[in-house]
Amino acid sequence: MIELIKKLPKAELHLHIEGSLEPELMFRLAKKNNVEIPYKDIEDVRSAYNFTNLQTFLDIYYAGANVLLTKDDFYDLTWEYILRCVEDNVIHTEIFFDPQTHTERGVPFESVITGIKEALADAKAKYGITSCIIMCFLRHLSQEEAFETLEQALEYKDDIIGVGLDSSELGNPPSKFKEVFQKAKEEGFKLVAHAGEEADFSYIYEALDLLNINRIDHGVQSIKSPELMQRLKDEQMPLTVCPNSNIELKVFETYKEHNIKELLDYGLNISVNSDDPAYFKGYVNQNFINLYENLPITEDDVITLVKNSFKSAFISDELKQAYLARVELALK
Ligand code: ADE
Ligand code: ZN
Repeated sequence: MIELIKKLPKAELHLHIEGSLEPELMFRLAKKNNVEIPYKDIEDVRSAYNFTNLQTFLDIYYAGANVLLTKDDFYDLTWEYILRCVEDNVIHTEIFFDPQTHTERGVPFESVITGIKEALADAKAKYGITSCIIMCFLRHLSQEEAFETLEQALEYKDDIIGVGLDSSELGNPPSKFKEVFQKAKEEGFKLVAHAGEEADFSYIYEALDLLNINRIDHGVQSIKSPELMQRLKDEQMPLTVCPNSNIELKVFETYKEHNIKELLDYGLNISVNSDDPAYFKGYVNQNFINLYENLPITEDDVITLVKNSFKSAFISDELKQAYLARVELALK
């Protein structure tokens, strides 16, 4: 099984680039940029990664992002993630970034997007890895601030395929961002949103009905509504599930309690993703391996999950078919 997991080409659809900041790079950038971080060494950082819920993680994750200042920093961050893609056989990736985390600190939007974009162009040239960029609004901030961010993004419309919604879910429902998502849609962006990660399934209904999203990020709470499950199945709405993340943030107490197998067996369109791999103990292959080691996941399940990742990607039908053919080839 582990051989199969490693050899299958994959797409990753739920990856926060700031969440791929490994402690080693955090230290290097802190030193270079003269930014203070509250850790004395790498071991100290790792022991701080002990979360009890989403918010305890976000506090540490935003503090870590403070070391990112220049275009080159964003290039290095993205390039390190690309090297992990090479290792894990991820041949297409759709990367989230949180511009407000950086513009709030005075880092220009341009430095962030240009650094990411240049690394992704090099990834295509050197490894043939294709990619898209999705800009997320921080939901703990206001809709007005999201509108300002969308305005800044318009200049980079050709580089950004979609907009998303992340950060503190509880108390910040999708309905808070209805108008800005409407505007993003009119501007031609694809739409995604974190929904039903910690908050209940009403957030998933809101994301579907008020934001008109094309994919749900997480969505694991849908299992509590039979009616919603039926709808997600009928629509084959993609759910980008992040198993390690859900365990590390205590959405499920243990791996054995994770519901991905039930969601998959019901017929939902599920993919496996790493979310914030530097914080959640592993990249995409490690997520698959943990599923296999803790749940009755079969080889056919793994193949379905991988195929779903390509089917749900924001790429042309031609490229989807080409990538699905590469999956078949790897299975021969
Ligand atoms: N930002 C980074 N990772 C996140 C997650 N899992 N949920 C919400 N916001 C995030
Ligand atoms: Zn996420």
